[in-house]
Amino acid sequence: MNPTWEGAARTACAVMALSAASAFAQDRSAVQEIERYRQALGDGNPAELWEARGEGLWKKAAGPKNASLERCDLGLGPGVVKGAYAQLPRYFADVDKVMDLESRLVHCRVTLQGISPEEARKSPFGGPGRKTDNDALVAFITAESRGIKMNVPMSHPKEVEAFEVGRKIFFHRGGPYDFACSTCHAVDNVRIRLQDLPNLTKQADAQKAYTAWPAYRVSQGEVRTFQWRLEDCFRQQRFPHLDFTSEASVALTMFLARNANGAPFNAPSIKR
Ligand code: HEC
Repeated sequence: MNPTWEGAARTACAVMALSAASAFAQDRSAVQEIERYRQALGDGNPAELWEARGEGLWKKAAGPKNASLERCDLGLGPGVVKGAYAQLPRYFADVDKVMDLESRLVHCRVTLQGISPEEARKSPFGGPGRKTDNDALVAFITAESRGIKMNVPMSHPKEVEAFEVGRKIFFHRGGPYDFACSTCHAVDNVRIRLQDLPNLTKQADAQKAYTAWPAYRVSQGEVRTFQWRLEDCFRQQRFPHLDFTSEASVALTMFLARNANGAPFNAPSIKR
């Protein structure tokens, strides 16, 4: 690292430490207000609209093969949706790979419906005036694990490998500010723009954070999936774009999901 970058990184860290301290010193009631707001909205979560649309898409014949996704094996056998998300990511023998929900959905749309891999991966996240099948399917499938304890397996060597790679990525520093995930998420009581940042190296925080995604984002009017969450944090980290369903994204998800084991899954949730 050249001296200028080193200086910049030091300054960035100092600024972060300062803002962490002042954020903590700020009135904690702002956080309580956000929590109350979440609870009020939690009674009627607009994510239910995505869930309903996702269920329709799951059952609807589509693609060149004119097939539905009802034979898709999410890990608990073809067509079993209930509880499947609480055990993902996991190893799938048919592809000899560890997959998260979103990569498994791409796989099923390609193999069962005959959609091309490019098409199945294209623009997975909704935006202004554009709703996506991925967001809806994820909302439907994850909702079917609500209340079920996270139980991500770690018996196959490839599951162990994905977890270890995910851990490495989590602590890997790089980019213009020399940030790692751990720069923002391995410290206590840090806030950026009124958001409490979880310390993802602590079990309780990791459980609370992971089991709350996907989430309906009030500020964006969209349901945001876990792949979206990771992509957005790569951006916050000033890292290159994270490819949708890439091996790196699945490994990171494996690391975070496994750390949430034992906690009841509780999403789609609602966030500011
Ligand atoms: C520069 C600071 C920064 C870095 C680096 C960073 N994040 Fe984040 N992360 C945030 C912020 C800010 C939020 C809350 C954003 C929001 O709600 O809009 C967040 C939210 C999250 C959440 C959701 C937490 C919850 O309780 O809902 C997860 C999971 C997460 N980040 C994972 C990661 C991972 C994995 C990495 C590394 C690839 C990473 N973050 C890198 C700042 C960062």
